[in-house]
Amino acid sequence: MRHRKIHVGIGGASGYAGGELVRLLLQHPDVQITYLSSHTYAGKSISTAFPGFAAHHLPPLEEFDIQRAAQKTDILFLAGETGFAMQVAKPLLEAGVRLIDLSADFRLRDPAVYAQWYRREHSAIDLLDEAAYGLPELVPHSQLREARLVANPGCYPTAALLALAPVMAQGWVDTESLVIDAKSGVSGAGRSKFGLDYHFAEINESMRAYGVPSHRHTPEIEQKLSDVAGRAITVTFTPHLIPVTRGILCTAYAKLVRPFSAHELTVHYRRFYQDKTFVVVRDPGDFPATKHVAGTNYCHISLTVDERRGQLVVTSVIDNLVKGAAGQAVQNMNLMFGLAESRGLELPPVFP
Ligand SMILES: NC(=O)c1ccc[n+]([C@@H]2O[C@H](COP(=O)([O-])OP(=O)(O)OC[C@H]3O[C@@H](n4cnc5c(N)ncnc54)[C@H](OP(=O)(O)O)[C@@H]3O)[C@@H](O)[C@H]2O)c1
Repeated sequence: MRHRKIHVGIGGASGYAGGELVRLLLQHPDVQITYLSSHTYAGKSISTAFPGFAAHHLPPLEEFDIQRAAQKTDILFLAGETGFAMQVAKPLLEAGVRLIDLSADFRLRDPAVYAQWYRREHSAIDLLDEAAYGLPELVPHSQLREARLVANPGCYPTAALLALAPVMAQGWVDTESLVIDAKSGVSGAGRSKFGLDYHFAEINESMRAYGVPSHRHTPEIEQKLSDVAGRAITVTFTPHLIPVTRGILCTAYAKLVRPFSAHELTVHYRRFYQDKTFVVVRDPGDFPATKHVAGTNYCHISLTVDERRGQLVVTSVIDNLVKGAAGQAVQNMNLMFGLAESRGLELPPVFP
């Protein structure tokens, strides 16, 4: 029996991922939010950044300080820009705080790959080996329970990996043939990016691909798919920005190595995810919509087989801010503290 609630903090609480963490943690029965940081809103109430929290009692936002954060928290979510976590992780871990980093700093095992895709040198290379990749459906929970540092996956990788892992694990698809086409709502870009691309008049009623073929989530998808397949995997990954606020729809294509029916593959997907609370495998062809998971930590998947071409077509949907960021981070926290992974997370969707 735990004597007191887990003291949790958020570094970068004024962003979309930080705000979503506050929303989820406020209604988690086993935690108390004890520390919130922001540079822009330091000294102010969080309701200055998010007026929707006005009725909730929360600590004020303060300038990030390693010693204060360490004193005040058992676990800290780092929700700042990529590059922030690797600057502060070491002293925080030395002070005994456990960390969940929502940025990309600790997701890639090879610092040369990080430097290549993120165009900066990694400054905490000695921590890369111990960082656990926090995709609980595809990682042994013992790794997350014991971790001091969890690298929370990217939003696109979460959707793509959950869609493809069951067939990759079996070797049922031609690994040279993988194509991942994904669409994201604009909140995926965060709150601090200003530019014409995110201007209402430019994105509303319009869609476009971006980051082709060099989006930074590519090596993360390839790293984990390679782990699952047991050999080096490359993918074609094309993300698109679409005029919705939340949600990712991922459609993945792969050549099947022999004839399969959609029913046979669906049975396999259901077996693969049978004890995974947050993955729902729908009937073949019952393709999910982003609204079916809005505000939730669930990933819905459906697949079909184009028998004419021997091609698997599998779609997955997540809420980029929940299963793609804050919700998955809370799921990881639950596992790190020996709680049920779904504790505080079994929220139904906001619909319509
Ligand atoms: N949005 C998503 O769907 C999503 C999904 C998965 C992962 N993530 C990751 O989560 C992190 C936060 O994303 P977001 O969407 O919440 O971004 P955001 O809305 O732009 O917020 C970024 C946060 O970082 C702080 N910040 C800005 N510059 C910083 C710096 N140099 N050092 C430290 N903190 C800084 C910002 O606030 P102050 O200026 O007030 O400090 C703010 O709190 C990013 O690493 C992102 O890649 C986001």
